[in-house]
Amino acid sequence: TPNREFLQLLPKCEHHMHLEGALSPTLLFKLAAQNNITLPKDDESFQTAESLIARYERFTSLDDFLQYYYIGMSVLIHSSDFEALAWDYFQHASSDGLHHAEVFFDPQAHTTRGVSYSTVLSGFSAACERARKELGITTILTTCFLRHLPPKDCLEVFESEEVQASYKSGAVKAIGLDSSELDFPPELFTELYGKAKKAGLRLTAHAGEEGPATYITSALDVLGVDRIDHGIRLAEDADLMKRIAAQGTLLTVCPLSNVVLRCVEKIEQVPIRTFLDAGVKFSINSDDPAYFGGYILDNYVAVQEAFGLSVQDWETICRAGIEGSWCGEERKSEML
Ligand code: ADE
Ligand code: ZN
Repeated sequence: TPNREFLQLLPKCEHHMHLEGALSPTLLFKLAAQNNITLPKDDESFQTAESLIARYERFTSLDDFLQYYYIGMSVLIHSSDFEALAWDYFQHASSDGLHHAEVFFDPQAHTTRGVSYSTVLSGFSAACERARKELGITTILTTCFLRHLPPKDCLEVFESEEVQASYKSGAVKAIGLDSSELDFPPELFTELYGKAKKAGLRLTAHAGEEGPATYITSALDVLGVDRIDHGIRLAEDADLMKRIAAQGTLLTVCPLSNVVLRCVEKIEQVPIRTFLDAGVKFSINSDDPAYFGGYILDNYVAVQEAFGLSVQDWETICRAGIEGSWCGEERKSEML
């Protein structure tokens, strides 16, 4: 039966991880010291790496996590900081047996605090290039837009010269939608997604993480997404599940994240078996590995421990991940 060694050797693709979510407490404190960043003094969690990790084990919701996620990234200033962050992730991912990574970053979380988009992108791009050369990991970068901010701000960032240049050069190939989900339905971003589609970009959006299954329907029908990030609440709507299975839309499921952010009480409640039985395609991902207690292989292992999947189930999952990737057919056939 599949064990950790078996899971390590599978040709894994990751489609749902936020590079800013790879910021370990160790790197956070190191960069805070280097860059003279003052962390909140009124929150005792920021005293040591240990106290911060202990706080990460007590998240109560997506928003409770996001507050730490946005404070954490305040230590990222220079291009080399972004490169170090992403390189840290690629090294973990490589030892986990990752072949291909489609990764998110949040431009607005940096531009709104005075760090330029080109600083962020040049650091992340350098790490991606190094991951390809030294680790054989191929990558695709996705700019995510923060749905708790006004849609017109998101549009402005999307249309800015440097962001447009990164789409035209192919440095960034997709857009996504993240941050607080409840009260920020997909419909708010119709214009943004219309423009991104016209520009030939791939489209994805977080939907059905904390928000209802109706957000999945509107992400598909109103935004025209090719993929759904999380999507666990799809299991509540049998008709929609049939539709998604029939059209082959990939869900990027993040099991450890769902438990830590209390979307479910335990891994067993992530609808892995339900999706397999319904023919819904999904990949297994780490979301924010430094905050949720594990990288991609830990997520695979947690799923195996909870569901006792067969070798054939794992083949189904990995095949869906490869076929649902946005890399070229040649790269896909190398991984299959
Ligand atoms: N940003 C980083 N991780 C996220 C998640 N799981 N959901 C929404 N926004 C996020
Ligand atoms: Zn996410």
